Amino acid sequence: MPQLNQDTKHKISFTLNGKSVSGFAEPRMLLSDFLREEMALMGVHVACEHGVCGACTVQIDGKSVRSCLTFAVQMEGRVVDTVESLADKETGELSDLQKAFRKHHGLQCGYCTPGILMSVEYFLEVNPKPNEEEIREMLSGHICRCTGYTGMVRAIKDVVRSRGPA
Ligand code: FES
Ligand code: FES
Repeated sequence: MPQLNQDTKHKISFTLNGKSVSGFAEPRMLLSDFLREEMALMGVHVACEHGVCGACTVQIDGKSVRSCLTFAVQMEGRVVDTVESLADKETGELSDLQKAFRKHHGLQCGYCTPGILMSVEYFLEVNPKPNEEEIREMLSGHICRCTGYTGMVRAIKDVVRSRGPA
């Protein structure tokens, strides 16, 4: 089998937040670093860098994924969405979930928030009417260093109510 040259950059083309993009990455480059450093998407936060905290969560082909456990070169032909995709592209108006986090003080310092928002959007796709226990179980996949998760739970319940019947 031919050796992969770790210093050689490979071209990657994929859909990012609704737009076709291309870039170059070494095979070992993490998607989280690629999105921040090459695509200037600073909403992708990095903390533990080994898949535990959830801060780096994005969506790939509509599913929430830890971008620190994913190589950038794996994104060829895929669809990637970051927290920057949530607000209205024309007006900049925040999404209902973002507004609810603000209203219910679910933001705190905001470091873990982008990853949580991307997980919540996927969670509500799969389970549009979760109960509180299910919401807390989902949030347990994210480590927030600020304080409790109460504001986030309230925000998610508010969005579940306002989105109406599934
Ligand atoms: S930075 Fe990816 S899970 Fe913590
Ligand atoms: S809001 Fe500060 S780490 Fe979660």
